[in-house]
Amino acid sequence: MLTVALPKGRIAEQTLEKFEKAFGEKFIFEDRKLILKKAGFTFLNVRNQDVPTYVMYGAADLGVVGLDVLEEKEYDLIKLLDLQLGQCKVAIGLKAGEELDWTKSQIKVATKHEKIAKKYFEQKAMAVEVIKLYGSIELAPLVGLSDCIVDIVETGTTMKQNGLEVGPTIMESSVYLISNKNSFYSKKDTILDLREKIEATL
Ligand code: PRP
Repeated sequence: MLTVALPKGRIAEQTLEKFEKAFGEKFIFEDRKLILKKAGFTFLNVRNQDVPTYVMYGAADLGVVGLDVLEEKEYDLIKLLDLQLGQCKVAIGLKAGEELDWTKSQIKVATKHEKIAKKYFEQKAMAVEVIKLYGSIELAPLVGLSDCIVDIVETGTTMKQNGLEVGPTIMESSVYLISNKNSFYSKKDTILDLREKIEATL
C-alpha cells in the first residue's frame, strides 16, 4: 500500500492519467472527497504547497510536486522521477522597459517564492526586502508595492498582459514524483517498481 499526495487540479488529473496507463485502473476523486483508495494506492488531494509537508512528515510515502515548491520548502526529500508536467520557470518580472537597479541600497520584491527570491538576490550581494503575496503577484510593481516580482512563468502571457516583462530566469521547474527517505528505504522495491511503470508511460 502506497500513499501519494497529489496537488489539487490539473496536475493531479494528469498524474492520475499516468497511473491509469501504468496500472490499468481508473483513478478518479469523487466530488469533494480528499481521499481516493484503489488498487493498493491511497491518493490524497492536497494544496500544491502542502504536498512536501505530507511527504516530509510521512503522512504520504510519495508526492507529486513542482521543483519550485520543493525548493521553497527546503525539505530533504528524494526526487524519484521528472513527470514532465507543469514545465515552467521562476523568473524576475519587471515593468516593461525597466531594468533592475543594482545600485539601489535595497530592492523590494513581491513573491510567493520567498526563499527562492531571497537566495537569488543574496547570491548577487543585493539587499532585498521580500514581500510575501499569495497570488496576483503581477500587480505589485504596477501599484508601487515592489520594484519587481519573482513568479512562475509558463507562457509569459500573464506578465505581458499586465505590462510586465520577463526578466532573468532564476530556476527551471517541472513536476516531480518525490518520496521521503523513510518510505523509500522501507518500501524500496514497491517504489522503484512504481517509478519504472510510471516512467514507461512518459
Ligand atoms: C501562475 C503564476 C502566473 C501565471 C503564469 O499562477 O503566478 O500568474 O501562472 O502563467 P503564464 O506565464 O502562462 O501567464 P497559477 O496559474 O499557478 O495560479 P496561482 O497564482 O494561484 O498559483
